Amino acid sequence: MAQATTDPVRLPPGPRTPRAIQGLKFLTSRRASVGALVRRYGPALTLNLPIFGRTVLISDPALVKDLFTTGSDLVGRATNLGEVLGPGSTFSLDGDEHRERRKLLVPPFHGKRMQGYESIVEEEVMREIAGWPQGTEFETLPSMMRITLNAILRAVFGAEGQAFDELRELLPQAVTVGSRLVVLPRFLRRDYGSWSPGGTMRRYRRRYDEIIDSLIAEALADPAFEDRTDVLSLMLRARYEDGSRISNGHVADELLTLLTAGHETTATTLAWLVERVRRHPALLDRLTEEADAGGSELRQATIWEVQRVRPVIDGTSRRTLERIRLGDWVIPEDHVVMVSIALAHASRDHFPEPAAFNPDRYIGAPPDNYTWIPFGGGIRRCIGAAFANMEMNVTLRTLLREFTFATTSAPGEPYHSRGVANAPGAGGRAVVYRRPGARRPTGPASALAASS
Ligand code: HEM
Repeated sequence: MAQATTDPVRLPPGPRTPRAIQGLKFLTSRRASVGALVRRYGPALTLNLPIFGRTVLISDPALVKDLFTTGSDLVGRATNLGEVLGPGSTFSLDGDEHRERRKLLVPPFHGKRMQGYESIVEEEVMREIAGWPQGTEFETLPSMMRITLNAILRAVFGAEGQAFDELRELLPQAVTVGSRLVVLPRFLRRDYGSWSPGGTMRRYRRRYDEIIDSLIAEALADPAFEDRTDVLSLMLRARYEDGSRISNGHVADELLTLLTAGHETTATTLAWLVERVRRHPALLDRLTEEADAGGSELRQATIWEVQRVRPVIDGTSRRTLERIRLGDWVIPEDHVVMVSIALAHASRDHFPEPAAFNPDRYIGAPPDNYTWIPFGGGIRRCIGAAFANMEMNVTLRTLLREFTFATTSAPGEPYHSRGVANAPGAGGRAVVYRRPGARRPTGPASALAASS
């Protein structure tokens, strides 16, 4: 755990090139340029970046652990995502407010509850794959995006029928505009009329708030409200220590946060799963055999290994609220400390042959919380980690049951940054054949699918 200190500042070494050039390199070839810097300066270095200023970048597990276990009185959030998602978003909260919100949000996402959502995910996978072509190469990413969007709308928002249909139209557009707005300076985010990005966002947001208000009213009026298991209802039933509940406005901000944080990240990881697995024929055979026999150990290990070799989020950061000692370094107040997830996962000291895709490394040895960090760590660790894992597990299990995947010796797909997450550059392409005897969908996968 990092400690507050009054010792003189001691930042790790780093390049002396001008800020604009460092920023350009970071933006255009982050992985390659940061990799080269780490080889030169070691696993802690200082960058000078536009917007962030002096930024300490770490990938050494001991430092990562120190940072992740540091209390929220010393390090806070370092993202402006909250400015687009709203003041009630977890991304806008710090200190006590953040801690109290997490207390209410963590139980609904606890691993033990996840089994209850499996049928929703399986229905969404079956609905989506009903349209997959056989014998022709196609991108799986658009399907994964629809599966994860629909799963969140049903399991988290508790949306059905018309609200579900409207939200799945509206939200992908709103998230696209929102992720562009986040990188604009504040004055360009303002509403300059319907043509401006700020104006478009406001319009989407107004409609979104109306739909969420009616979802909340419906949930509260539902005679079976106490038995409902969607996250929205769990949030409405949860109480702060003073007995109050999260306000409607904050519920709307938080649902948007959960969707923004959880939809594309899970979909891109699923597309990488397809991309990796079809390049490893022996693994694919073993996965299919295991799924047919009702097992899951290798499937879980494969998901962990995909997240290690192809983390869809490059890094996460904190802002120092006071001067802190982190390992040998003394970092002043109001500095960004960035954890490079990609570099931590490529550490030779912690992963023999780090570039090799080898799920067997996790058989009987689950990943360690400070070397395997695709979901970040500590008090800001991803709330939806268990939900994402369940979605990926059910999706892969269903795909293995329904299809044979044609394998390929083509080179791996390159990284493509979509803004929030890194996707396989060719969309996670696949060629599939229906397995004889597989459960063919005979129509809509569910009553819900029938209504949409
Ligand atoms: C494979 C899928 C996912 C990946 C790789 C991922 C990754 C991450 C990462 C790296 C962070 C930052 C953690 C930190 O700073 O320590 C984060 C935060 C967060 N994630 Fe995820 N995430 C995924 C899925 C989800 C899902 C499905 C949800 C919800 C439905 C979700 C909700 C959140 C929230 C609310 C936060 C903010 C936590 C806080 O600041 O307290 N994520 N995620």
